[in-house]
Amino acid sequence: MQAMIPRYDMYAFIHKALRAFMTDTLLSMGRMDCEDDADTAVTLGQVRGLLEMCRAHLDHENRFVHTAMDARAPGSADRAEKEHREHLRVIDLLETDVFAVEHSHGEKREHAAGQLYRQLAVFVAENLEHMQMEETDNNRVLWALYTDEELRAIEGAIVASQPPEKMIATLRWMLPALNPSERGLLIGGMRQGMPAEAFHGMLEVLRPLLGSGDWCKLERVLA
Ligand SMILES: [Fe+2]
Repeated sequence: MQAMIPRYDMYAFIHKALRAFMTDTLLSMGRMDCEDDADTAVTLGQVRGLLEMCRAHLDHENRFVHTAMDARAPGSADRAEKEHREHLRVIDLLETDVFAVEHSHGEKREHAAGQLYRQLAVFVAENLEHMQMEETDNNRVLWALYTDEELRAIEGAIVASQPPEKMIATLRWMLPALNPSERGLLIGGMRQGMPAEAFHGMLEVLRPLLGSGDWCKLERVLA
């Protein structure tokens, strides 16, 4: 019976956001027009935004999630920690690749953009496998060591550590990536922790992120 009761998955929503941001950015990088400076600037800006979010995500998991795992099962976060160190190294290399595209022209830019596109694809592939490991192996450890209430508190501490503009940047990818019932849980939860005026202001910021059909579903869930 125990196995049939779903446990709280603190990775679920943020990893959906990251998968969406990563794959969208990879596609954008693949179709970037190197001869169009404006398109190149926008696309490279998105790549930089992705790398920044990935770096922040690694920091959150290291400081809050791995610390919690190691506190009750020393060494249980070792594999994830090791993979995070490698991801940080690759993020630095990708930033160097972005700079190389930015500061080149003509054929050299085409070549540098192709290099960045392929290296980004490998980074995305590694992250997709890494997130699967976290959602299975790390969750198995977390569920054995912590109650759902404690897991929600750890996630709450991560959210509270971020400034509002970072939260909005995350929601920009998270909200469209979730299914309607998950959106209801996310936004409904935020409503409980905010003054009504601030909540409605935030809804207006989020509204353009969803098509009208999905927005109606969200309003129905919130009502
Ligand atoms: Fe991770």
